[in-house]
Amino acid sequence: MRADRFTGKVVFITGAGQGMGQRLALDMAREGAKVVVVDIDQGALTETISLLDAIGGQSLQILCDVADCAQVEQAIGQAIQEFGQLDILVNNAGLLRSATIEETSNELIDQTLDINIKGVLYAIRAATPIMKRQGHGRIVNVASITGKNGDNSTTFAYGASKGAVIALTRSVARQLGPFGITCNAIAPHAVMTSMMTYWDDEKKQAMADKIPVKRLGTVEDMSHLMMFLASDESSFINGETININGGYYMD
Ligand SMILES: NC(=O)c1ccc[n+]([C@@H]2O[C@H](COP(=O)([O-])OP(=O)(O)OC[C@H]3O[C@@H](n4cnc5c(N)ncnc54)[C@H](O)[C@@H]3O)[C@@H](O)[C@H]2O)c1
Repeated sequence: MRADRFTGKVVFITGAGQGMGQRLALDMAREGAKVVVVDIDQGALTETISLLDAIGGQSLQILCDVADCAQVEQAIGQAIQEFGQLDILVNNAGLLRSATIEETSNELIDQTLDINIKGVLYAIRAATPIMKRQGHGRIVNVASITGKNGDNSTTFAYGASKGAVIALTRSVARQLGPFGITCNAIAPHAVMTSMMTYWDDEKKQAMADKIPVKRLGTVEDMSHLMMFLASDESSFINGETININGGYYMD
């Protein structure tokens, strides 16, 4: 593995204000990428940018709600205006709210599908003509174990949205492969980011005990896989959604 895999590359990462997206932004900047960090939360964005500044990486922050098509298109346009190219798109922003089927409101269904599915579709559609013109591109989507195996403790809209991400990843891979663009996804499980604060210590321990490698996932684990999928080294992988869960779920 080279230490400079992303020198001269521009990466656009949604949900980069914290969690996996933030870690990925920092790791890619360390390997030379120019990083566009996108999030709906200004405080989180500010934190990511100050960490990127400390590394000395070139970056751009964009406050954007991925569920709003106009904002997504504007954000991609801003990235091009600043850096002139878009090599890697990482659709990482996501919403998870825990609720039983009966508790799940229309509003929660809409919000979940708007952010987790439509946000991904909008960003890919906006990036496509740019990547086609360039003749290359990498698209990495963040799905979830729930998109394959169903939800157990979250809202049923969440697993549905992540299943859609897996399906759209395959469609995009088929359509854009001939243009030098690959599209893949990761299917994480049990990474203790802000999204997972509804898991108490007992649940975390019980889950770690059930995972063959006997630990929960980390943002570093996720970042390493996303970087591989974003790199030139993954050029013959297309349309896959890769499990990253310590062997808890295999298919
Ligand atoms: N943590 C896990 O165990 C786990 C498991 C499977 C999948 N995932 C997925 O991983 C991705 C990253 O999540 P995380 O665990 O790092 O969570 P996180 O809560 O730490 O980060 C999510 C980020 O997305 C941003 N975001 C939310 N809605 C947005 C919107 N409308 N527009 C722009 N940004 C928005 C949030 O502000 C936040 O900074 C998500 O897609 C999530 O569904 C997480």
